[in-house]
Amino acid sequence: MRDFLKRLPKAELHLHIEGTLEPELMFTLANRNGVKLPYESIGAVRAAYEFDDLSSFLELYYSGMSVLKRAEDFHDLAMDYFRRAHAEGVVHVEMHFDPQAHLARGVELESVMEGLGLARREAEREFGMSTALIMAFLRDRPAEEAMRVLESAAPYWELLDAVGLDSAEVGHPPSKFAEVFQRAKMLGIPRVAHAGEEGPPEYIREALDLLDVCRIDHGVRCLEDPELVTRLREEEIVLTVCPLSNVRLKVVERMEDHPLPELVEAGLRVTLNSDDPAYFGGGMLANFQACHDAFGWSRETFIQLAGTAIESAFISERRRLELHRRLAECD
Ligand code: HPA
Ligand code: ZN
Repeated sequence: MRDFLKRLPKAELHLHIEGTLEPELMFTLANRNGVKLPYESIGAVRAAYEFDDLSSFLELYYSGMSVLKRAEDFHDLAMDYFRRAHAEGVVHVEMHFDPQAHLARGVELESVMEGLGLARREAEREFGMSTALIMAFLRDRPAEEAMRVLESAAPYWELLDAVGLDSAEVGHPPSKFAEVFQRAKMLGIPRVAHAGEEGPPEYIREALDLLDVCRIDHGVRCLEDPELVTRLREEEIVLTVCPLSNVRLKVVERMEDHPLPELVEAGLRVTLNSDDPAYFGGGMLANFQACHDAFGWSRETFIQLAGTAIESAFISERRRLELHRRLAECD
């Protein structure tokens, strides 16, 4: 099964590029940039990755990225991930990035875009991998700040496949960002949002009604609201579910308790993703394997989920056809 899951052409729709920072690269970049880390060793970094919830993770996530300073660092970060993902049979990666987390440290958007842009072209050339870019707003920061970031990103609007919404969810409903997302819509930029990870089903409704998103990131708490489940099914909204992330952040206690089988059974359009692979115990292959181990899913189920990811990826129709063909040939 592992060989099959590795061969399966996987499209990843929910990944935070800053969450791919492995401890090894964290130390390399800290040395290169003269950043002092609060850890003695690589082992100590890994040992610190025990989380109680989303916010206890976010603290380490934002502190880890302090080593990212220049375009070169963002390039190395992304290439390090693309290389690993390629080795796991990932053919397409859509990456969220958090400009506000970098601006707050004096790192300009230009450096982020230059480094990620370089890495994207290299991944295409070296691995035949396609990539997409999702500029995320931090929902625990003021909406006005998000609006300023969106406006200041004008030179890069063409390069953005979507805008997203992440960071601490509870207490920061999608409604807070209605205007920002309205502006993105006016600019013709597609929209996605994290909702229903720790937040209530109501946040999923708001993301649909007020942010007009085409996908919901996580969305697992929709099951608490049967009418919402019906709506998600009828409107064919894709959920980008991140099973290992949900276990590590204690959205669920154990993989065996994860509502993924229920979501699939309910006829929802579900995809599997890694979220922050360096922090949550593995990339796409580990997430697929964990689902196999916990739910005993057949090849057909994995083919169905991989197909849903290809259907809803931000790629050209030509690339979509190519990936569907590769999926059909995979056995
Ligand atoms: N949830 C919300 N915000 C995030 C996450 C997450 O899993 N990872 C990085 N930012
Ligand atoms: Zn996420």
